[in-house]
Amino acid sequence: MINLGLYKNLKVLVTGSTGFKGSWMCFWLLLLGARVYGISLKPNEESVLFNSLKLSSKIRQYNIDITNYDKVKKIINQIKPDIIFHLAAQSLVSKSFEDPLTTINTNIYGSSVILKSYIDNNCDTLIFCTSDKCYKNKEWIWGYKENDELGGIDPYSSSKASAEIIFHSFVSSYKLNNKRTKCASVRAGNVIGGGDYNKDRLVPDIIKNYFKGKTINIKNPSSVRPWQFVLEPISGYLELGLILFNKSKKYKIPSWNFGPDINKIYTVDHLIKFTKKNIFKNLKYSYKKNHKFYESKLLFLSNEKAKLELGWRPRFNVEQTLEFTFDWYDSYYSGENIINTTADQIEKYSKS
Ligand SMILES: NC(=O)c1ccc[n+]([C@@H]2O[C@H](COP(=O)([O-])OP(=O)(O)OC[C@H]3O[C@@H](n4cnc5c(N)ncnc54)[C@H](O)[C@@H]3O)[C@@H](O)[C@H]2O)c1
Repeated sequence: MINLGLYKNLKVLVTGSTGFKGSWMCFWLLLLGARVYGISLKPNEESVLFNSLKLSSKIRQYNIDITNYDKVKKIINQIKPDIIFHLAAQSLVSKSFEDPLTTINTNIYGSSVILKSYIDNNCDTLIFCTSDKCYKNKEWIWGYKENDELGGIDPYSSSKASAEIIFHSFVSSYKLNNKRTKCASVRAGNVIGGGDYNKDRLVPDIIKNYFKGKTINIKNPSSVRPWQFVLEPISGYLELGLILFNKSKKYKIPSWNFGPDINKIYTVDHLIKFTKKNIFKNLKYSYKKNHKFYESKLLFLSNEKAKLELGWRPRFNVEQTLEFTFDWYDSYYSGENIINTTADQIEKYSKS
């Protein structure tokens, strides 16, 4: 396993720094001693993690839209980052139905701006985040592999598949993978962890309803998702970033899945029942079919490539994931020092 301590003093740019995954990533990088820069939209009421970790005073944050090529290119030129993690996106399937054009503009055009700015500024390493939903979903029981067909039946998924296609076209058009692989696309599963307040995601929905004493509507109880603790994919991105930056060799397929082991994948129903039995005994839920939009039922990722070629491995099972997640919210609502709680979770995860 690669020593993440090597991030000390590296200049790291995280796009999507005010988001759920971006905030965890910036905070972890700060703990590792990196010099952290962020690009995202202005923090809003959903940026709970970013605000409670006081990241605006700890990183150099730029509130800019990634679809603004001139500004993005200029800022990247000023920063001259060693490693870029591109996480900024319109990240919600539900919102992609309501506002497909923003989703397409941000996830396809905005991501292309990041790619082009990376090339223009001759930066070293880029980790380009898309999604498990970039694969053409065949509702089958096997995990999708990195060279499987891309697809996407809804606007969000198709925007992520399109971003992947553009990524690979840039890699070949600008010969980015000729000698050594310095950029990679990464695809992770459904991420769970403290501090997520996004709409229409299972854990934030549980939290928001539970603390208000309301009943949560479970829309697709039999849906299976590659649930994983937020630090699982982030550890994968961080390890891959260092490998490509320090001693990169050539990887034939510059894409990586960071998902849970296939035998540790559960339905929505399992998650809800586990939560009620072990964590929130007073949780009230009912089943209500989702007629608003279509979502795939079965989605698995194969993590074999990351395990074999990078030595990465998922560390938490679903029970530990839920325990850490709900502990975080408990600590937040009890008014504990959330900076300490978050640092403590990162430390415990790193040692696991
Ligand atoms: N959370 C998950 O379960 C999950 C699963 C698979 C993939 N992903 C992907 O991981 C990445 C991070 O996800 P997240 O859950 O942290 O998302 P999030 O919605 O919490 O955060 C999104 C971030 O992107 C920024 N952003 C959005 N539009 C922008 C724009 N036009 N210009 C600049 N910044 C913009 C926001 O300001 C925010 O910082 C996304 O690419 C997402 O699609 C997330």
